[in-house]
Amino acid sequence: MDSWEKLKNDCRGCMGCSLGRTRHHLVFADGSESAELMFIGEGPGEQEDLQGLPFVGPAGKLLDQMLKMIDLDRSKVYIANTVKCRPPGNRDPLAIEQEACRGWLDRQIALVDPKIIVCLGRIAAMELIKEDFRITREHGQWFDIGGRRFMATYHPSALLRDPMKRPEAFMDLRELRKEIRAVCAHTYL
Ligand code: URA
Repeated sequence: MDSWEKLKNDCRGCMGCSLGRTRHHLVFADGSESAELMFIGEGPGEQEDLQGLPFVGPAGKLLDQMLKMIDLDRSKVYIANTVKCRPPGNRDPLAIEQEACRGWLDRQIALVDPKIIVCLGRIAAMELIKEDFRITREHGQWFDIGGRRFMATYHPSALLRDPMKRPEAFMDLRELRKEIRAVCAHTYL
C-alpha cells in the first residue's frame, strides 16, 4: 500500500528526466493532503524552483486571489503540477518529461483522492482530461474520469498576459463553486 511517507521518499531525489539536473528544488505540492478539491498546474517557474513550493510567483498570487473569490485558500485545497521540476526558461514541459513525472502525480491523486480536479491551463488539461483538449472551447466544462469530476480553466499566467480572458475564468470559478456545493458541501460550505 502506498503512503505519503513512501511517495515523498521515492520522489525526493528523482532523476527520471533531465530536468532533475537543472532544478534548485523539486516542487512536490502545497495544501491539504485530505482536500476534496485539487488544482493541477503545468510546472514550476523561477520562484517555485527557488522556494520549492508551487504557485508562489506572480501566477500564484493570482491563483490565491481566484481561490479567495470562491471562499477558499491553500489550506483547503491541494495544489500540484504535471512536472515537479522547472523546465529551463519556463518552456512547456516536453512529453517525455511529463511521462517521466506522471507516476508521481498519479500517486498524489490516489492518496489525496479528491472529488474534483481543476486543471490550470492547456498543458494540464491535455495531460489529464484528453490529448486534444482545446482550452478556449472547453474551459469550464465538466468531464467524468475514473470516478472524479474534472474541469479546466485558464492558467493564471494566461490571465496575467491577457486580462480580457478574466471574465471567462470568473465564470469557470462560479461553475466550480456550484460543483463544490453539490459534491463536497459538508467539507467546504
Ligand atoms: N505555473 C505553474 O503551472 N505551476 C507553478 O507551480 C507555477 C507557475
